[in-house]
Amino acid sequence: MEPMSIVIIGATRGIGAALADALDGPGRAVTRIGRGITPGFDLLDEASIARAAEAVGPGLRLVIDATGFLYNDRIKPEKSLRQLDPAHLAYSFAVNATGPALVMKHFLPLLAADERAVFATLSARVGSISDNHLGGWYSYRAAKAALNQLMRTAAIELARTRKHAICVALHPGTVETDLSRPFAKAGLDLQTPAQSAQRLLAVIDGLTPAQTGLLFDHMGKQIPF
Ligand SMILES: NC(=O)c1ccc[n+]([C@@H]2O[C@H](COP(=O)([O-])OP(=O)(O)OC[C@H]3O[C@@H](n4cnc5c(N)ncnc54)[C@H](OP(=O)(O)O)[C@@H]3O)[C@@H](O)[C@H]2O)c1
Repeated sequence: MEPMSIVIIGATRGIGAALADALDGPGRAVTRIGRGITPGFDLLDEASIARAAEAVGPGLRLVIDATGFLYNDRIKPEKSLRQLDPAHLAYSFAVNATGPALVMKHFLPLLAADERAVFATLSARVGSISDNHLGGWYSYRAAKAALNQLMRTAAIELARTRKHAICVALHPGTVETDLSRPFAKAGLDLQTPAQSAQRLLAVIDGLTPAQTGLLFDHMGKQIPF
């Protein structure tokens, strides 16, 4: 029997690496994609995304995009409108929304056509507009909200040609990674990447095509947009 063809994008570290480690095993062919793993792969370079897709080819049963960006040495999540910076907004959108949308553009057509196939993009609860009661983090919130809308729109288009396909956004919970480390508060349900990966994979296992286009947390609970 052919091994189940799986792709993890953003497998260099954090939740993406943990997902790839958890999935590696008999009966599965896991391809890890990311900066430094796949020659030239970068979310900011569409040609590199297209080349990575071409290299894996069709018949994919599971694709998880675990990339994302919150801060770096120069960019910090905004606490106030006063800190809003067009370059920060543009960069957050490029990595958290445009890049993952280009991943959908090049990888959704590679999903298996005649059997259950899942595409999941890692989003965040803070991208939910209706769940925003705290404010702050303008760029990250807005880019994740855009990602949710892009995923939803792609899911509708995908359903026209692949009735067994599922395309969702997932919130991994608070996970101890480089991305969350400066912000994770003690007392929160702080998970290791391996714990979050196990929960996310259990959620993915339970999804049906009727749930395509939605946002779920790591416990399988739907988050309103
Ligand atoms: N950790 C949490 O508590 C938490 C909570 C809610 C949502 N999330 C979401 O979960 C996802 C994974 O987060 P994480 O905590 O695992 O973050 P992480 O450890 O910082 O990993 C981020 C991943 O994104 C990749 N990436 C960033 N910019 C890229 C680019 N331009 N091109 C290609 N890859 C790029 C990184 O690759 P490099 O190694 O090459 O930099 C890395 O693989 C993100 O979407 C994040 O928003 C995380």
